[in-house]
Amino acid sequence: MYQYTFATPTRIEFGAGTAKKLPGLIAQLACEKVMIVTDKGVVNAGILEKITQIIEGGNIQYSVFDKVEPDPSTRMIEEIYQKAKQEDADIIIAIGGGSPMDASKGACLLMKNEGRLQDYAGVDKVKVKGIPLIAIPTTAGTGSEVTIFAVLSDLEANTKFTITSSRIAPDVAVLDPELTLTLPPKITAATGLDALTHAIEAYTSLISEPISDVLALEAMRLIYRYLPKAVNNGTDLEARTMMMQAELMAGMAFNNAFLGLSHAIASPLGALFHIPHGVANAVMLPYVMKFNYSAAPEKYVQMALAFGIDLRGGDLYENAYSAVNAVKMLVHLCGMPKKLRDIGAKEELLDQVAKDALLSVQLRFNCRKATEAQIREIVGDAY
Ligand SMILES: [Fe+2]
Repeated sequence: MYQYTFATPTRIEFGAGTAKKLPGLIAQLACEKVMIVTDKGVVNAGILEKITQIIEGGNIQYSVFDKVEPDPSTRMIEEIYQKAKQEDADIIIAIGGGSPMDASKGACLLMKNEGRLQDYAGVDKVKVKGIPLIAIPTTAGTGSEVTIFAVLSDLEANTKFTITSSRIAPDVAVLDPELTLTLPPKITAATGLDALTHAIEAYTSLISEPISDVLALEAMRLIYRYLPKAVNNGTDLEARTMMMQAELMAGMAFNNAFLGLSHAIASPLGALFHIPHGVANAVMLPYVMKFNYSAAPEKYVQMALAFGIDLRGGDLYENAYSAVNAVKMLVHLCGMPKKLRDIGAKEELLDQVAKDALLSVQLRFNCRKATEAQIREIVGDAY
């Protein structure tokens, strides 16, 4: 017999046009002073204006912080917190990709807890739930709108750390695929392949369970079918809707089953070379799968079937490996680079990447145990 825990603390509102529900959702949370946290990309795409019009329509007061940067730093989150305090905000609405959402999780936490963000690094360190948070993703990738994780950068130490607590999960996730229609192909590809990495790592995680497995497999099926369409024709609302459905399911899966070696490596690649998270995973995933597939061949066969590959003939390991080839093909179809050298990594720091990856919590859940020497070999291959 086995035991498992599965939780999704966040209420989900899904569908084209759902952003219109915002005033009602804010009222249900008994809040009246909104602070919106977002970035320039969201402003330039006209998405902020769309949302503020909806909020104004509900006669709700709001202020805006629109200077979120990629890899949100503790320093910047402190700034968001100061502004929220000044404005007397009682709810934050995060609009954007992982950076505005993770930055907002940090700012909501600071509104109700003493000390520095670094004090809450690790698992279950947050004592009091922060002020309410509504997350509105504008990419189909991170899953941050339903997760208990915030990945933050400590600029002084040049590292990233993760806060893991159900007390920082957003109260409501508003997933409106119409907001992703203007996302450029490169970001569509990188964020979509991040979602694929979430699904694959959650599915093959050492603590995977039946509920996260179902979510992860369905996410893989949808991403394989719809990501190239969303990359090639951004205004295809069906492809955008299915990608958002997929990244949500992948997010719920890894919120419970956690991740693996690709994310363990993506973290130092982000901290040392500022490679965008999705791009780092897109490059690493096929190499990591090649290392992992022999440790979970039955699961790799199920993945190949989810991708729609015809597996008549072939033995267990050949069939399992066809999932690796399928992902390689998908990365290629999405126009992503294949090598770390093409995305700004430096060969002389690869030892450091391996060393830092070994310290990642996510590594504990990888289906095959990896030593520092093996990780160095994998990143060397990918270079
Ligand atoms: Fe990720």
